[in-house]
Amino acid sequence: MDEKKVMLSGIQPSGELHLGNYLGAIKNWAARAEEFDCYYFMADMHTITVRQTPADLRRRTLEQLAQYIACGLDPEQNTLFIQSHIPQHAELGWVLNCYTMFGELSRMTQFKDKSAKHKDNINGGLFTYPALMAADILLYQPDFVPVGEDQKQHVELTRNIVQRFNGIYGDVFKMPEPYIPKAGARVMGLTSPDSKMSKSTPEGCVFLMEAPESIQKKFKRAVTDSDTVDPVRYDPINKPGVANLMNIYSAVTGKSFHEIEAEFAGQGYGRFKPAVGDAVIETLRPIREEATRILADKAYLESVYKAGAEKASYTANKTLRKVYKKVGFVPR
Ligand code: TYM
Repeated sequence: MDEKKVMLSGIQPSGELHLGNYLGAIKNWAARAEEFDCYYFMADMHTITVRQTPADLRRRTLEQLAQYIACGLDPEQNTLFIQSHIPQHAELGWVLNCYTMFGELSRMTQFKDKSAKHKDNINGGLFTYPALMAADILLYQPDFVPVGEDQKQHVELTRNIVQRFNGIYGDVFKMPEPYIPKAGARVMGLTSPDSKMSKSTPEGCVFLMEAPESIQKKFKRAVTDSDTVDPVRYDPINKPGVANLMNIYSAVTGKSFHEIEAEFAGQGYGRFKPAVGDAVIETLRPIREEATRILADKAYLESVYKAGAEKASYTANKTLRKVYKKVGFVPR
């Protein structure tokens, strides 16, 4: 029997999950669950590179797990775990720190963005974060890492680390590939279509657990333009707001840009924006309802993350032992 290929990804529980996380990452994960051996985790260790309120971090980590399951990640088929439960992440993270160059880390756009945003707390963890992310990935020897466009650079850095490490010690790590969706890889803010949708601009960000009325209000207020001649037309350079809405509509309905243009030909934004809102609301409704139901069952959630940790640590430990041996640590 052919071994299944492996997929792995994670999200930081630093805020509520939003449409960008869903379309850029989770939707793709759930669609591939049968084909691949999948590992998905709550990247809680990454969140403390920025100050967190401990009680909120704990709550959001469990909410995120409930939302993963509600998005279609069946815990029987996927290994769902909490990063900090697997000590091998920190251990391999340290080793890989020593195989990641200062220059490489300096070029990471997420570091540049976050250090500009948190000038009073540019800590070492924020800088070396991509080495921990490389450890997150390489411990499980995945073939694919499904992420949104903004994380591609970190996966590319992981590939450089693999090349460097394997170049010295032989075939230790499998070379992972970023896996980026066609539609939804870069969802922009509804009020600022020039920057990616993120929780730091809540008025332009649609959250997975948000009430339908509130979602609809955000879509009605989405930035478009003053084009009345041929409004719903895909032109990301000149009409970034409309292109973003088309991208979202395409990702949730599966329709092509051509089909969307035909559907709204001769119609203005007054029809188009609420239609996108409705499509998003209907996509998120079952997820929100299911997540609320799951979240009420704390014992179930605990059983999921405990079983996940057991499975994940088995694989992680195998890789770490191999790495420790290769670099010359005396076995315990
Ligand atoms: P994070 O937590 O910022 O985002 C989680 C996932 O959501 C995607 N995403 C988006 N996609 C499209 N449009 C957007 N507006 C948008 N915003 C976020 C991200 O690309 C990502 O796939 N470093 C990672 C977390 C991480 C990780 C890993 C991922 C830690 N270790 C190992 C993969 C493998 C991060 O900060 O993503």
